[in-house]
Amino acid sequence: MNQDFWNTKNGTISYFPDGSLNIAYEVLDKHLNAPNRNKTALIFEPENGDTVLYTFLDLIKLSNKIANILTNLGVVKGDRVFLFLPRIPELYASFLGIVKTGAIAGTMFSAFGESALKDRFENSEAKIVLTTKELSARIEQVKNRLPKLEHILVVDEENFKQQLEQASEQFSIVHMNSEDYAFMLYTSGTTGKPKGIVHAHGGIIQQKESAKLVLDLKDDDVYWCTADPGWVTGIVYSILANWSLGITTIVYGGRFDAQIWYQILAKNKVSVWYTAPTAIRMLMAKGDDLVKQHDLSHVRFLASVGEPLNPEAIIWAQKVFGKPFHDTWWQTETGSIMIANSPTLEIKPGSMGKPLPWMNANVFNQEGSQAQVDEEGDLVLHPPWPSIMRTVWNNQEKYDSYFKNGWYITGDRAKKDKDGYFWFVGRADDVIKTSGERVGPFEVETALIDFPGVVEAGVIGKPDSLRGEIIKAFVVIKPEVKPSEELKEQLKEHVKKYLAGHAYPREIEFIDKLPKTRSGKIMRRILRAKEMGQDIGDTSTLEEY
Ligand code: WT7
Repeated sequence: MNQDFWNTKNGTISYFPDGSLNIAYEVLDKHLNAPNRNKTALIFEPENGDTVLYTFLDLIKLSNKIANILTNLGVVKGDRVFLFLPRIPELYASFLGIVKTGAIAGTMFSAFGESALKDRFENSEAKIVLTTKELSARIEQVKNRLPKLEHILVVDEENFKQQLEQASEQFSIVHMNSEDYAFMLYTSGTTGKPKGIVHAHGGIIQQKESAKLVLDLKDDDVYWCTADPGWVTGIVYSILANWSLGITTIVYGGRFDAQIWYQILAKNKVSVWYTAPTAIRMLMAKGDDLVKQHDLSHVRFLASVGEPLNPEAIIWAQKVFGKPFHDTWWQTETGSIMIANSPTLEIKPGSMGKPLPWMNANVFNQEGSQAQVDEEGDLVLHPPWPSIMRTVWNNQEKYDSYFKNGWYITGDRAKKDKDGYFWFVGRADDVIKTSGERVGPFEVETALIDFPGVVEAGVIGKPDSLRGEIIKAFVVIKPEVKPSEELKEQLKEHVKKYLAGHAYPREIEFIDKLPKTRSGKIMRRILRAKEMGQDIGDTSTLEEY
């Protein structure tokens, strides 16, 4: 790592006099007696109803109240406290309230179903969860199997509101070291249950610097990052980096709707907008006229993350907004943007851009040495860096598996061109990216097998012009079960309820047998090739096909 460089940036972070820190202080409380005290921090646009504004002072008070409630319930440094909330102001204030107590804040996307919740609570041994009346029903289904979960706090219940009312607005933030854990979130790989990726307080230095450099955030910006804090972008770039820079930030509580999105951009005079390719393609599909109905003249900088940004989207943005989207690449594990089209870099549409100045990225060939110019290989990064994950919760083996010969292996395939631009090629593993959301095939397969009558299932990502990929399932059912459209619908509903609303297979095909290795592993590569009408490649390890 470029330690000397980061040492020069230490002055940008508000450390306590004893040299410790807490990201909640850096993000909120340092503004208490400073010029941003009464500046709008959060503009909340609910799905229905009126806009609500929170100043930095409002968020400081609200997060202090939450920190007090948690501390009174016995939360101490290192405990896990989770959020299972929709995008409401309480989510944002609670995240920082948890961090103030020294506990590790965990987020769970509001579309998660019973089994996804159970896996996450079980693995993290979370003590407390904050949720809403509506979402708490799903936790109720599994809570008997979660002995470590002591309290379910329902933020829209009268009882909790009263507690908030009575709680003190003062809280003494727990001092942490740079390496102490601050937050965690679960993400999927090819196999096994989701992994708890844990980030440390010290990551803030890079999160902040990357937002300044790549998103070009300036004091008077109105900034909208459309990501949900159930995913890492929503934590790092709509809670941490933005507020540590004192930036007014929009949160929209509702679902995607082109008309509403343009209204939010126009009404709030949004100047910096960070979103995702699927949303951009959905906007494109609604046509140019809709854009023209809104005054988007304040939009100054556009950026995108999460999945490949196709050149058409960049060209379209140039046409309708008069400026391009800047693609950025990173992962839950990296903790901040690693490769990007920074404002000063000339964009090559279709490229992810270049590594940030403090990152050393490379492409390795099969032999583990540097690939040729334009040669496809494994995308690797040189560790450590301040925002890299510190551990995989309770899974040292998994953590270790990310590192090889002193490099961090991203799991992505990429190319580097003669000018040093990086081009995304695909995943090296079976991880699916649908609408920018990372889904593990194993979890979907497990959900399908849970349905009566299903023998086994193989799940792949199938290229889709709107969503990047959609989830496709090949399902083997018992001989006595009849394949039908109705059964497909039932399976979809089951996965939504069991696993998550966003992780269900949009396409299902019943087949007699799954291609497997001799050791019995499903060969998703073969399913993918078959789906794409491609040569199925080397099948020598196949049991039978
Ligand atoms: C995976 C990480 C932290 C950002 C949100 C996603 C894919 C991410 C790009 C991009 C092509 C991208 C990669 C990566 N990905 N950004 N600009 N172009 N692919 O975080 O859910 O941990 O997913 O998303 O495959 O490994 P994540």
